[in-house]
Amino acid sequence: MRVLVATASRHGSTGEVALAMGQALRARGLAADVCAVDEVVSVDDYRAVVLGSAVYHGRWIPAAVSFAEAHADALAGVPVWLFSSGPVGDPNLHTAPADAEAVTRLLGAREHRTFAGRLGKQDLDEEERAGVTSIQREEVDYRDWAAVRRWAAGIADTVLGEAAG
Ligand SMILES: Cc1cc2nc3c(=O)[nH]c(=O)nc-3n(C[C@H](O)[C@H](O)[C@H](O)COP(=O)(O)O)c2cc1C
Repeated sequence: MRVLVATASRHGSTGEVALAMGQALRARGLAADVCAVDEVVSVDDYRAVVLGSAVYHGRWIPAAVSFAEAHADALAGVPVWLFSSGPVGDPNLHTAPADAEAVTRLLGAREHRTFAGRLGKQDLDEEERAGVTSIQREEVDYRDWAAVRRWAAGIADTVLGEAAG
């Protein structure tokens, strides 16, 4: 049984969260493909899909929303889980991602979960840096790997349970 974990990321930290999810899914015996949303040609072979995006200025990365729109018909009847990767300790950046709600409705997603993110100032372009002046440290990483793995393991258990029927 194959599960897809597809993400949109600007600076890589959401992709790393997806890799940890893939490991947790595989540990439960599922085949998991982990990739960027724009690498996905078809979702036809998947028993379940996890779609995630980093959050910038309260929005998902547009490629994640486009992925949901492009594959909405194919995903009808396929269980979908969504996650956002964002909060990094700056209250000014804690805007709930509006797109996640719309994509939840569009795909009939089972759940949307927000995970804390990572921010490395050296990775940011000038405009991004200007938006995060309140973060003093060069790098903050709030990613909760145990929570990420637990969530993915729960998804695996649901998928396997429903397949066993
Ligand atoms: C300019 C900028 C704006 C951000 N805006 C938000 C936001 O509105 N909400 C949020 O939760 N996180 C926000 N973040 C934090 C990012 O979502 C976080 O760093 C995330 O882990 C980045 O993922 P990526 O490395 O996959 O791109 C922002 C970060 C930057 C640099």
